Amino acid sequence: LMACAFEKDMAGKRVLVTAGATQEALDPVRYITNHSSGKMGYSLAKISALRGAEVVLVSGHTALAAPLFAERVSVTSAEDMFQAVTERSEWADIIIKAAAVADYRPATVSSEKIKKSDDQMSIGLERTQDILGYLGAHKRDGQFLCGFAMETQDLLENASQKLKKKNADMIVANNLKVTGAGFAGDTNVVTLITENGAEEQELMSKEEVAGVILDKIMEKIG
Ligand code: CTP
Ligand code: CA
Repeated sequence: LMACAFEKDMAGKRVLVTAGATQEALDPVRYITNHSSGKMGYSLAKISALRGAEVVLVSGHTALAAPLFAERVSVTSAEDMFQAVTERSEWADIIIKAAAVADYRPATVSSEKIKKSDDQMSIGLERTQDILGYLGAHKRDGQFLCGFAMETQDLLENASQKLKKKNADMIVANNLKVTGAGFAGDTNVVTLITENGAEEQELMSKEEVAGVILDKIMEKIG
């Protein structure tokens, strides 16, 4: 019933959303991850679908139920997400990368549980692929690419650099230090950054933020 309340202004648009945290295995029982809840990406998938878009959600492990009217593809690691996203990127008119992707993974994955020994130990890490950067370098004509940026300092400067460096059309910048913003909660405070400048939004629910992001994308793609 709720679906009726939305104008179908995104009908005919194919939207690929990523959400949640990746998990980078260290051994069969341990992994490296982050605090992403997946709520922002899931809200984007849900609202896009309610506005009539065809939606694929590539998701890391989260506690969230799959949104109605969207296909969910579950992944674990940054490498899995890279594969799932690049297999579907040609298809998409709009790609929104809300996932919190690990920048590094353990350089070796032990097939057995690692036993403790010395008082100190260190873990060798290697870089993962930058999925958004790859998508920006391989963007097809007419495709809109929206990334996120999580910052704790110099929000505008850092996020604007990501817009350029990754050849994105928009960056949704989150300041983790603002009350009501960030990982866990149901609200967010974001700044939308495009080549035309930055627009700070007020505190809203993540579903309302999703609506504002999608409005801006639809305005940009005309
Ligand atoms: N991202 C990605 N692949 C990665 C790392 C990040 O696609 N391996 C994407 C995220 O999904 C997000 C954007 O890049 O849309 C920015 O992520 P963020 O962590 O804020 O920036 P980084 O470029 O990773 O830079 P840093 O963590 O050093 O600030
Ligand atoms: Ca990062």
